[in-house]
Amino acid sequence: MRQTIFAGNWKMNKGVAQTREYIERFLTHAEAIPETVRVVLAPPFTALEAAADHLYGSRIDLGAQTMHWEEHGAFTGEISPPMLAELGVTYVILGHSERRAYEGETDDDVRRKVAAALEHGLIPIVCVGETLEEHDAGRAQQRVVEQARTAFAGLPAESLAGCVVAYEPIWAIGTGRNCESAQANEVMEAIRASLPGLADASILYGGSMNADNVAGYLAQPQIDGGLVGGASLDAEQFRRLIENALPGAGGSRP
Ligand code: 13P
Repeated sequence: MRQTIFAGNWKMNKGVAQTREYIERFLTHAEAIPETVRVVLAPPFTALEAAADHLYGSRIDLGAQTMHWEEHGAFTGEISPPMLAELGVTYVILGHSERRAYEGETDDDVRRKVAAALEHGLIPIVCVGETLEEHDAGRAQQRVVEQARTAFAGLPAESLAGCVVAYEPIWAIGTGRNCESAQANEVMEAIRASLPGLADASILYGGSMNADNVAGYLAQPQIDGGLVGGASLDAEQFRRLIENALPGAGGSRP
């Protein structure tokens, strides 16, 4: 089901103490966030338990940044789906371009992870996105559709409708060079059309989203929210970004 979602991907930032401090500050004014908007915070693994404690009773959901597809076993350094579920994690970011680039994650690894997340009741936020080279060659749509088709292969349409996709053009991540909203909208249209079920999934934009450009994205018909890196690291900034997303909408999409 399409929902307005803002997820803060903290990447490798913030320990336990900083996480507690952030959440206290974020929750102080969280009532200004419209009830129809789902907010997800994805701290590093080491801060998940502290975050879960601090978010208890709030309407903010907890997310993880990756996971392995196996339940347990000889996978040194890895974290499994049931380990996340036990901590109260609801969402899990899968196939982020940084994991694909630095940890060698393949489209097929992402497929296994998506299936495992769904099996364990976790909502996958599946990241897709093209490189600058692919973008400049006019191959953005082709590349992200290929990533989406592999990630969701073999799953029924009903399962896809419950997933979240994040379109993150790699060249826009952490660069301050955000993708133009109409262009992002076009790519998302192609993603939605690529598989049955994705028409009803929530699709987020990610890549240098901030409090000033967020409303332009949310005004596009295919864009349901954001997967936010840098601008989610400060509690006030992230809250302002979410408040600016739907100006005058009173919490519901026009
Ligand atoms: P930035 O918002 O810092 O560009 O990062 C986007 C991102 O990678 C979120 O997953």
